[in-house]
Amino acid sequence: MIKKAVIPAAGLGTRMLPLTKTQPKEMLPLANKPCIQYIVEELASVGVEQILIITGQKKRAIEDHFDKDNELNNMLHLSDQQELLQSLEYEDMNIQFFYTRQSRAAGLGDAINHARNFINGDPFIIALGDSIIHSEEVQPLLARMMCTHNDNPGSIVLGTRSVSLENVSKYGIVKPKGPVTDKMVEIEDVIEKPSSKTTPSTLAFAARYILPASIFDALDRTIPGKGGEIQLTDGIRLLLKEGTRGYSVSLTANEKRYDIGNMSSYFEAFVDFALNDEKYGYQLKQYLYNKFNI
Ligand code: UTP
Repeated sequence: MIKKAVIPAAGLGTRMLPLTKTQPKEMLPLANKPCIQYIVEELASVGVEQILIITGQKKRAIEDHFDKDNELNNMLHLSDQQELLQSLEYEDMNIQFFYTRQSRAAGLGDAINHARNFINGDPFIIALGDSIIHSEEVQPLLARMMCTHNDNPGSIVLGTRSVSLENVSKYGIVKPKGPVTDKMVEIEDVIEKPSSKTTPSTLAFAARYILPASIFDALDRTIPGKGGEIQLTDGIRLLLKEGTRGYSVSLTANEKRYDIGNMSSYFEAFVDFALNDEKYGYQLKQYLYNKFNI
């Protein structure tokens, strides 16, 4: 069982300005919770017990969110506000939080490299801090990725999803070893943001990774690319080249990746989460029916 996970959350979030001028992108709300809380709950649901969050400038709100706020809890107890107390129950999750700072946002690979001491040789999960996996499967994506890893110890396991050909240049893309006939395929290579003409497939990374600790040594040997950024994809590529086995596990039709890193996908995510909200979703649907005369 993998017990450790890393959430990189130190990016500048420039595509989400001005929302992210002073607040972390990872704290943007989706219905009644900030994005990163969904991610922590996803990790807790597969048995992760220790999470390292990579933070940076203007990211203090993340640490405050996961601290137990005794004063607030006491105040709500005294005024008997049970529903509000329930909304803070996530503070008691069986998760130990650790934080480290990436002083300059020098790329995802550089952010992950800050986790070396915390990981201490174990395989681990990476969950990008601005992406939620909504799953209606009995065994959600991360659980299936863990199974693939258990069957292939020491391997790289990447969560993936199919994207349209014109969108491959936005993502890390998998080159499968054979034809993609199944939701789980072996990986030959990975390529960061290929052009639609040269891409080996349309299977894109879906913000969840299981990696061996040898990734840190690979990242040390990775040459920085554009803007001096160290790409995680390049580190993974090196490991694959040197013989580490890699597997891609894809999202099913009952699963969706929500990316809150740009305005249009954030708006879509907010609407979906708000419409699904247990308490207010129905009211919102009624409002939309009336507004659009459906
Ligand atoms: P993005 O690739 O969306 O980059 O990061 P970004 O810097 O946050 O956003 P833009 O491009 O400026 O709009 C994906 C995840 O990786 C983290 C981010 O916080 C986000 O959760 N990240 C990215 C880091 O932790 N450090 C980095 O240097 C870059």
